[in-house]
Amino acid sequence: MKRLAVLVSGRGSNFEAIARNIREGRLEAEIAAVVANNPESPALQTAAALGLRAISLPSKGIETDTYARMVVETLAPLSIDLIILAGFMRRVGEPLLEAYPRRILNIHPSLLPAFPGLHVQQQALDYGVKFSGCTVHFVDAGLDTGPIIQQAVVPVLPGDNADTLAARILVEEHKIYTEAIAMVLSGKL
Ligand code: GAR
Repeated sequence: MKRLAVLVSGRGSNFEAIARNIREGRLEAEIAAVVANNPESPALQTAAALGLRAISLPSKGIETDTYARMVVETLAPLSIDLIILAGFMRRVGEPLLEAYPRRILNIHPSLLPAFPGLHVQQQALDYGVKFSGCTVHFVDAGLDTGPIIQQAVVPVLPGDNADTLAARILVEEHKIYTEAIAMVLSGKL
């Protein structure tokens, strides 16, 4: 069974969707660890309640590459096949990229390469696009760059604000992340 490590910073709804899809037989994999860089992340409680290994590894005040080395050390004994960034709001340092080449995935709530970075839905609204969506991609050294694996499109509707648009996109995130993970694990990519 392929082993996933899910890295989170906040709410963890993408993590929960992946865990549910595994439980319900839509994804053949196991979550070997959930690692939060924010000790307040609700995903840690959710993971523990699901009987998963929940690891709080605070990153505050720690330089990017140093933190990356800490993550590598933490995951080393766990035989991780794929790292899943699920609302992980820190840059991934070089040591982690080197330890898991082409084995780190991220989800981002826009149609990359449009609107990387933060406040993504507001960026889309401000620009006036009529469609937005989400992207699952391999992580490289850039900010929200790296080869695209899967995308989904949603309309931007009149009267949308950042929250309503985010909610519409999130529904699709919960579907395509699992599809993208399955695709990568199948080795067909
Ligand atoms: C998701 O919308 C995810 O795409 C986004 O943060 C949210 C996390 O929600 N990630 C990024 O913006 C990364 N650049 P979740 O904690 O409920 O999964």
